[in-house]
Amino acid sequence: MLEIKNLCKNYGEHRVLDNISFNVDKGEVIAIIGGSGCGKSTLLRCLNHIEEVTEREILFNGKNINDIPNYHQKVGMVFQQFNLFPHLSVIDNITLAPVKLHLMTKDEATKKARKLLKDINLLEKENSKPGNLSGGEQQRVAIVRTLMMNPDVILFDEPTSSLDPEMTKEVLELIKKLVDTNMTILIVSHELGFVRDVAKRIIFLNKGKIASDDNVKNTFENSTNKELKKFLSNIN
Ligand SMILES: Nc1ncnc2c1ncn2[C@@H]1O[C@H](COP(=O)(O)OP(=O)(O)O)[C@@H](O)[C@H]1O
Ligand SMILES: [Mg+2]
Repeated sequence: MLEIKNLCKNYGEHRVLDNISFNVDKGEVIAIIGGSGCGKSTLLRCLNHIEEVTEREILFNGKNINDIPNYHQKVGMVFQQFNLFPHLSVIDNITLAPVKLHLMTKDEATKKARKLLKDINLLEKENSKPGNLSGGEQQRVAIVRTLMMNPDVILFDEPTSSLDPEMTKEVLELIKKLVDTNMTILIVSHELGFVRDVAKRIIFLNKGKIASDDNVKNTFENSTNKELKKFLSNIN
């Protein structure tokens, strides 16, 4: 579904992603781990096409993502800081994009948004502003906003790292539900328990390179990669 071929990304002279190659199959759940500053967010932003790659290419279903006009509808992204519009109500945040892009009428979008909000027990908050919701509620609204576009892939960039443990749980439960629907997911997360539970495959980035790309068991138990072992022991 996604093919990342020798991807490089520079910020000025600084090479942040260095020759990254991997494929993502439909329905795969891949966790991306690695220390702070190793390029995890940059990689997701390149995959979401909110960042131009410096060299080589990303293919989606065989086509360069630069040549796919509605690529953003196919690949959604959920951010650490939710990125909801503070001045808009929950329902307006969720319906804005599909209506603006003429994918749905306002009525259709509202109907779909209400159904999705009901599924996550937040329908009674539809007219609230994001600032009046807890962090966990805001993040679940942000996930629903992504789901409105019926994406083929969802990219999660540390979706729970600004949340308290209690709220982390409710957000991870929602992500787990998406995993169970066979959604294709790439997730950057330091919640290693969760990662072990849902991901079949773990990519470990170190200094902008893929230092390990393996299944859960090999990553956590059998790896001989020094940096990976150090990273895991620091987290535990
Ligand atoms: N917009 C930017 N301009 C310049 N440097 C950046 C920018 N975004 C990230 N960087 C740098 O790129 C490196 C990787 O950042 P990032 O992808 O955010 O890492 P991670 O998410 O793994 O913590 C860091 O050294 C960071 O300072
Ligand atoms: Mg990051």
